[in-house]
Order: sequence, then C-alpha cells, then structure tokens
Amino acid sequence: MKKKILELIAKKNKSKIVSLTAYSKNIATILDNFCDIILVGDSLGSVLYNYKSTREVSLDIMIEHSKSVRMGVKKSLMVVDMPHNTYRNPKEALKNAKKIMAETKSDAVKLEGGKKICQTIEILVKNNIPVMGHLGLLPQTDKTFKFKGKKISERRKILRDAQLLQSAGAFSIVLECVETSLAKIVTKKIDIPTIGIGASSNCDGQILVLDDLIGLNPIDVRFVKKYSNIRKEITKAVAGYTRDVRNKNFPLKKHSY
Ligand code: KIV
Repeated sequence: MKKKILELIAKKNKSKIVSLTAYSKNIATILDNFCDIILVGDSLGSVLYNYKSTREVSLDIMIEHSKSVRMGVKKSLMVVDMPHNTYRNPKEALKNAKKIMAETKSDAVKLEGGKKICQTIEILVKNNIPVMGHLGLLPQTDKTFKFKGKKISERRKILRDAQLLQSAGAFSIVLECVETSLAKIVTKKIDIPTIGIGASSNCDGQILVLDDLIGLNPIDVRFVKKYSNIRKEITKAVAGYTRDVRNKNFPLKKHSY
C-alpha cells in the first residue's frame, strides 16, 4: 500500500481526518495546507454545472477537473470520484479507473455502493488502484435524499456493507447522511477510517463540499456549517471594480504600460 494511504489509516483512533472537495487548482493549493484528503467529487455536477444529479457527470469532466486539482495538490491524498455508469462491472471499472489514474495522477478513486461492488474493488486494488468506499446516502443511485439508518434492516445492511468493503480492500469509507449511533457502530467495527458527511462526529474524519462551507453554493442543509460568506466578499470586490471602472478610477497610470 502507498505510504500516504498507510499514514491515513494510522490516524484512526488517533487524530481526526480532515477532508474537503476541490474542483480546480487554485482552491486545491489552499486546501493542500490543511487537508488529509482532497476529493474531486462528482458533486461538481450540481455545484458547477447545475446538473439535476451526479448521474449526468461524465468521465471526461471528472478527468479535466482532476488534472487541474492535481496541479495544486502536493501533500494531501488526492481522491477522484468515479462517475455513475463508469463502474457497472469489474472490466468497465478497471478500464476507467486506469484511465483516471493515468491521466490525473490521482492517488485513489472513490466508488459508491456496498456488496454489489466488492468484486470490482478487489480487482482495482489488485491492480494497485487504491479505493475509497461510499455508503449511506448514495447520490448516484438513490431516488430520495433521506438520512440512512432508521430501519433495522437498513442499519444491518450498512454495517455489513462496510465490513465487506473493508474485506475487499477499501482503505477508507465515506458515510453520507448516516444516523449518529449507526455511524458510531460502523466506525467501531471496522479498522479503516470512516469519513462522515452528515454522519455525526462519531466518524474518524469529516468531509464537506468546499463551496458549501464557504457560502459560495447558496444551499442550506442541516449538515453544513458555513464558515464564511464568500458571496458577500466577491460581491463587495466586484462592486468596487464596477464603481472604479465607471468612475474612471481603474486602471490608473500604475496599472498601465
Ligand atoms: O461528490 C462529492 O463531493 C462527495 C462528497 C461530498 C462525499 O462524494
């Protein structure tokens, strides 16, 4: 296993894992000073492209954004989401994961799902492609976006799936919108780190979509804490520029050749 991945696993039960999404280089350079994991998430479909769901995100879009992010990531572990319909069977998954790894120089890929994708994970791992799992709410396939872990059957399935993903070779698992006590049980029962999003502080680490936490993406969901209102800052800057251009205060002599 890659050194960076072993170091990440070693953080379990020792220190919390910090993770955020990035879709481009400049943002990645900032996050790289803080994050253990930087994820090029297929959430970019709704955040950047206004798609109705992540199902519309293509492999090419993921690869182009990942190439940009790669330029800004020097220290963090870089993970790229495999988009919907790019890992329907092990053969398809291997071909597309190899393409992602070769073209983006990413450290790992992330796949959504449990038992059904275990054989695929085994094959990717055998081919030296590290895999991060994703359980709980699965945006690529779920019809409704509700938190998971209310029903006993659902709880059993998520725990079982987490154990199966670990056995298949996943190095970590994102738990999305998983009920607090279930996140605690899953985190306790597996040896690889769980990374929560809307899954309580019981996980080994946390991930959020950067655009949500800086207030760039105008959404309000329970699991997001807004740490800044970047829309307000951008508005202020653009208003200042507009004022200066209209009043002929920009560009000045010092800005000219
Ligand atoms: O697509 C994404 O950004 C994600 C994270 C939010 C976990 O999968």
